Amino acid sequence: MIRTVIRGTGRHLPPRLVTNQDLAQWMDTSDEWIQQRTGIQQRYWIDPDHPEGASDLGVKAARIALERAGWQATDIDLIIFATLSPDVFFPGSGCLLQHKLGLETTPALDIRQQCTGFLYGMATADAFIRSGMYRRILFVGAEVHSTGLDISTEGRDVTVIFGDGAAAVCFEALETDEPVGVLGQRLHAQGEFAESLMTEAPASRLWPRLTPEMLDQRRHYPRMDGKLIFKLALKRLPETAMAVLKETGIDKHDIDLYIPHQANMRINQFFEKQMELAEGKVYHNIQTYGNTTAATIPLAIDEALEKGIIGPGSTICCFGLGAGVTWGVSIYRFVK
Ligand code: ACO
Repeated sequence: MIRTVIRGTGRHLPPRLVTNQDLAQWMDTSDEWIQQRTGIQQRYWIDPDHPEGASDLGVKAARIALERAGWQATDIDLIIFATLSPDVFFPGSGCLLQHKLGLETTPALDIRQQCTGFLYGMATADAFIRSGMYRRILFVGAEVHSTGLDISTEGRDVTVIFGDGAAAVCFEALETDEPVGVLGQRLHAQGEFAESLMTEAPASRLWPRLTPEMLDQRRHYPRMDGKLIFKLALKRLPETAMAVLKETGIDKHDIDLYIPHQANMRINQFFEKQMELAEGKVYHNIQTYGNTTAATIPLAIDEALEKGIIGPGSTICCFGLGAGVTWGVSIYRFVK
C-alpha cells in the first residue's frame, strides 16, 4: 500500500524581532493585554529596509527541508505553496518559489486556505501520492503579514497576533503495510463566515479594485470578528479531532503530541481541557512567533522534531481553524 511520509522539514524566520513593547509604542496596546488575551510575547517581521515576499522566506525553509530529506530540487514532482500573503496578486507564489529553486517545468500549485493551509496541503499531497501521480511533493507554507497590517490603534486586534515566517515539508511515497504516514484527516469549510475574517481590497468584485477612498477607509487591511472566530474554533476543533480519532481507531491518549495552528493560546488551552488531555500534550510556540498562518503547523512540527519532543514512531494530531472559515484535523505517524 502507498503511504505518504515526511522525509524532511525546515523553517525560516525573518530577522526583525518585534516585541509587544515595540507594538505598544505604535498603537494603544500593552504587553499585558497581548499576553493575557493571546499568549504572544514576540513575533518576527521582515526587515523593511530589505523587503522579502512569501516565496523568499519559503525558499529558505524549502532548502533546509530538501537537505534534511536528502533530495535535490530536481527530485520534486510537485510544489504545493500555501499562503494568504502571496508575493503578488497573481501568479501564485509556488511558481516564484519553483524558479528560485532553479527548476524549469516542475508543476506548482498555490492553495488559499489561510490557517488551515498545511492541513489542506497535506491532504492534497497525500491524495496525489496515493493516486500514484507523484512520488515526491514539496509543501511550503509562508507568510509576510507585516507589510499588510494596520499599525495603528484601529487595527490593533488583528495586528498584534500576526508574525512573518515560513516552513517546509518534503512528503514522499512509501510502499509499506505498516500503519505509518498520513493515517486520517478531515477538512471543512463554512463560507457563511467568509466575511468574518478577510482582507477586502484589492478585489476583482470591486470597480475599480482599489481607490484612494478605499485606502482611507482602511479596506486593504485585514479585519476580523475575533469573538466569532474564537467561538467557532472552540466548537469545531475538539468535535473534528474526536471524529478523526474515532475514524482511525486511535485513542486520544495514544497521540504523542497535538500540534495546533497557533492563533491564540487560549483556544489551544481550551482544546486541551475539553479533550481531557494530560499537561504538555498540546504544543505551543505562539509566544515566540505569533500567528504565522500557513506556516504555523509545519513550523511547530519542525521545532518539535528538532527538540526531540517527537521523533521516529511518534504519532501527532495536527488541527486548526481560520479564515474562510476553514478547519481541519490530520493524524500522522512518523516512520520508526
Ligand atoms: N490591545 C489592547 N486592547 C485591545 C486590543 C489590543 N491589541 N485589541 C482589542 N482590544 C480591546 C478592544 O477594543 C475591546 O475594548 P472594549 O471592551 O473597550 O470594547 C477589548 O480589548 C476586548 O476586545 P475583544 O476583541 O473582545 O477581545 P478578545 O478577548 O476577543 O480578544 C482576539 C481578541 C485576541 C483577536 C481574540 O478574539 C481571538 O484570538 N480570536 C480568534 C482569532 C483567530 O483564531 N483567528 C483565526 C486565525 S487567523 C487567520 O485565519 C488568518
